[in-house]
Amino acid sequence: MQDQFLRRIDYLRISVTDRCNLRCKYCMPEEGIQWMPHDLILTFEEILRLMRISTQLGFRRFRITGGEPLVRKDILEFLREGAQLPGVEDLMLTTNGLLLPEMAFDLKAAGVHRVNISLDTMDKTRFFENTRGGDVSKVIQGIFRSLEAGLNPVKVNVVVVRGFNTEELPSFLKLAKQYPLHVRFIELMPIGVSSEHRSDFVSIKEMKELLGLNEDAPTKVIAGGGPAEYFQPSGYKGSIGFISALSRHFCSTCNRVRLTADGKLRPCLHSKHEVDLREVLRSGSSDQDILKVFAQAVWHKPAEHHMNNEAWQDTRVMSQIGG
Ligand code: GTP
Ligand code: 5AD
Ligand code: SF4
Repeated sequence: MQDQFLRRIDYLRISVTDRCNLRCKYCMPEEGIQWMPHDLILTFEEILRLMRISTQLGFRRFRITGGEPLVRKDILEFLREGAQLPGVEDLMLTTNGLLLPEMAFDLKAAGVHRVNISLDTMDKTRFFENTRGGDVSKVIQGIFRSLEAGLNPVKVNVVVVRGFNTEELPSFLKLAKQYPLHVRFIELMPIGVSSEHRSDFVSIKEMKELLGLNEDAPTKVIAGGGPAEYFQPSGYKGSIGFISALSRHFCSTCNRVRLTADGKLRPCLHSKHEVDLREVLRSGSSDQDILKVFAQAVWHKPAEHHMNNEAWQDTRVMSQIGG
């Protein structure tokens, strides 16, 4: 369907849990967050019902996020059912990768088309510190298992944070050169704990300088429909991408809305305004009623975000939104 600014909206990002097996420094405070109570989280039946209704509005692409989606019990069964819904053309997952060594082949068998995996540093100690306990070797294994399983294209998300991983960016280029991986460098967004660290922000322009990349126009298109712009230097098996949420935002071509684990439809990553679909679902509404509320919320998707305003503050942390 179209929103009020005539953007075509066909991509739903669904956070199935706010829980995570890591506590990345730019995402969560040291003490973690208060997990949402189970009864406030949508059941898989409720999510599948919303997916089915959204296909009637023209939604075709579904990205499952978290927290960490693979920690939710019965996730594979849910994915299997989701992949079979008529109208679901693309079922994708964004994960921190820790559980991929054992789950990549099962995900493929369940009908997941592809995965995006977060990997901000390949250094063991730095990874352990930044994620407060994570084992980077598991994530790296998970990336290669995903390639073997055919969850292609496999994308690697690198959030760039000043003084943390800036010197490591060239090593990520090697990864994209040697393997058919699409490594995306992401501008740090001021959400949750990151809103207190605006000085850690590195713009795409500066990243390109650090990488010695002069090209301005993208040279490659990768399946996805997300905001990244891709480049494929000659001799590369994979590609490199940039996601410039702040310095050159992509709101005018945005194609997505979000569903939080507790059943709120968030028309924009940065909306303060959410529509409570859980309440509508649990008050005995018909599919037709739910469809109307859903369509209204999408129609009112805001024109753009206001993150560049220093005073801007979100009401949730990133793991409660799903990125
Ligand atoms: P595909 O293109 O489908 O592979 O997905 P994607 O790149 O949009 O998804 P992913 O979950 O890997 O997100 C990568 C980065 O883009 C994360 O930092 C997200 O927070 C960010 N991102 C995704 N969607 C949006 C959006 O609508 N607005 C903004 N500002 N950032 C987004
Ligand atoms: N800014 C940009 N990207 C972020 N992510 C998490 N927090 C932020 C932030 N503040 C990324 C994760 C993951 C994706 C879902 O969002 O690293 O790859
Ligand atoms: Fe977990 Fe992702 Fe947040 Fe890290 S960024 S704590 S992996 S939800």
